[in-house]
Amino acid sequence: MPALPSPALAYRLEAARAVVHDAAQLAMSMRPPPGGPQGELKSAQDWLTETDGAVEAFIAQRMQALFPEDGFQGEEGGVSRTGSLRWVVDPIDGTSNYARGRCRWCVSLGLMDGDEPVAGVIDAPALGEVYTALRGYGAFLNGKPIKASPIKDPARSMIEMGWSGRVPKPVFMDKMDAIMELGTMPRSGGCGALALADVASGRLDGYIEIVINLWDVAAALPLLAEAGAVVSPFLQNGGLTGGATILAANPHIGPVLAKAVSIPLE
Ligand code: IPD
Repeated sequence: MPALPSPALAYRLEAARAVVHDAAQLAMSMRPPPGGPQGELKSAQDWLTETDGAVEAFIAQRMQALFPEDGFQGEEGGVSRTGSLRWVVDPIDGTSNYARGRCRWCVSLGLMDGDEPVAGVIDAPALGEVYTALRGYGAFLNGKPIKASPIKDPARSMIEMGWSGRVPKPVFMDKMDAIMELGTMPRSGGCGALALADVASGRLDGYIEIVINLWDVAAALPLLAEAGAVVSPFLQNGGLTGGATILAANPHIGPVLAKAVSIPLE
């Protein structure tokens, strides 16, 4: 039985869950109806909606009121405060889905202690799902413990690859070709945080994205670690300061996948 978590971290996780819940309800109230995307393009196929800014401002304000000593970093606003504990938010992850009235998006809030991800909350209100994790104390989906899948055979596996316009098409296609050569079932769902949460819950056997950012993965990293998934060294490979590659997988498929796509796990 692990010792009880530090009260400071346990309290932060509870507070984050409540704040993210309210933020997710705000996003639901502003959600565009099904149809063509409502929003603007930041760059090729990189959408921004009014909700991204509103949700980030809401979370920033609530976290500052609760924990004025903590740092804060948002996808839209960058680093607005520094502190040894730092909140990292993606107000809407899966904005391209959200902008079209699709369901696969979430609000993602991670907590870093220095360079270590220690806690995370991912709330997907259109799916009715909330993931939570605190390092050393498990990963949960709607309060129930989750773990990475036991699938060993690539020919029975489902692997998702995230796509963004930041990656040249031949580079993406090479990796996709390699995972399909293994006989896997490929997917691409447009929400990195939920795909990583799917690896943690065993709904996917692996997720690869060639360039992804800290705000997309900060809440998912503690989930993956607690669920027994293996993850390539995203933070050590530049993920703390810019876009970097991530591979996350169940521990059986991980090494096979890493070799096939040439993304080392160490
Ligand atoms: C994007 C999504 C997408 C991933 C991109 C991210 P956003 O985040 O997570 O799945 O492939 O790399 O930028 O823009 O929806 O917050």
